[in-house]
Amino acid sequence: MLLAEEPMNTVNYLRISLLDRCNFRCSYCMPSGSEIDYLHRSEILSYEELLGLIKEVFLPLGIDRFRLTGGEPLLRRGVVGFVKALCGLPGVQDVSLTTNGFLLSELADDLYRAGLRRINISLDSLDPTVFEQITGRKHWQKVWEGIQAAHRVGFDPLKLNVVVLPGVNDHEVPDLAALTINRNWHIRFIEFMPIGNSDYFAEKGWVDSETLRGRIRERFGLGSGECYGNGPADIFQIPGAKGTLGFISQMSECFCERCNRVRLSADGWLRPCLLNESDQIDLKTSLRSGASALILRQQVQKLLGEKADIHFKDRERGVAGSYGRTMSQIGG
Ligand code: GTP
Ligand code: 5AD
Ligand code: SF4
Repeated sequence: MLLAEEPMNTVNYLRISLLDRCNFRCSYCMPSGSEIDYLHRSEILSYEELLGLIKEVFLPLGIDRFRLTGGEPLLRRGVVGFVKALCGLPGVQDVSLTTNGFLLSELADDLYRAGLRRINISLDSLDPTVFEQITGRKHWQKVWEGIQAAHRVGFDPLKLNVVVLPGVNDHEVPDLAALTINRNWHIRFIEFMPIGNSDYFAEKGWVDSETLRGRIRERFGLGSGECYGNGPADIFQIPGAKGTLGFISQMSECFCERCNRVRLSADGWLRPCLLNESDQIDLKTSLRSGASALILRQQVQKLLGEKADIHFKDRERGVAGSYGRTMSQIGG
């Protein structure tokens, strides 16, 4: 095949947003107050279209690791069947899912049986009141039950994502880290980014990972660790703990040089970088207007080839205020 002989890009990880809707209203993710315009069902890539793109376009280009995101991916009808079909595709190396955990107590078992083996769940607080303040929902208990269900079913690694918000949940960092001591869970602390709700970011700011590591080190000690993943987390571990601690430090240290991923929105835009809005390509329109798999591969390969350049150009331009989409629409 023509394209298979060309040099492979180091991008091997695709984040697929299954839908833009979410049943939570996390303060760091969405603009406060205003409701977002949701996509019409017809604008969202169908499961058949997604599987076709994965088989004919992404896998042949060496992209064989997939993460399902949202909005909240478990809200999409038929998600378990899609996970099963995706996990069963020859050549797929890794499938994972990022969720707010709300539907996990119902779906963890079915997802595991469909072939999913690892999962990342948002848990920004151990305090139901703080949880409600952050997510806009009184669902701490239900999410906690979802996490327990995922644990019981056997998801491994099971990762919990914490976006650290100064003055809101940063005092809980050592307690959240302590969850890893007796459980094989992997807690990741994410530096708050000015994407999604830039007013809130301007008000709160962010805490750098090294400061958080200092607080954890002081209380428990901290060494390096290992945990399977394809993302940008730096892994540490409390000595003797069963689980690990990951730090996702996009504000304090740039990990663009080791970026291995692109993102597909629910309505079929392929985005070369989280920070890049202007150079995305409209795969859905190409696909629906009858472009062949070869043409689609060429379009994607062109984007992959330009990715590093686009990426740095965009950083130099500065990112503040340049987003038309919230984090919930991009999928993190
Ligand atoms: P694994 O390591 O494979 O488990 O995946 P992951 O950490 O990439 O997945 P997850 O969806 O849990 O991502 C956690 C968070 O990391 C995202 O929500 C973003 O906040 C951040 N992140 C992931 N990739 C990027 C990236 O390319 N750029 C930036 N700035 N942040 C990213
Ligand atoms: N900064 C950092 N992480 C964010 N997420 C959502 N919005 C932001 C932001 N502004 C993360 C959530 C979730 C993932 C989908 O994206 O923690 O884990
Ligand atoms: Fe919160 Fe995720 Fe929903 Fe955003 S998409 S509001 S981070 S649960």
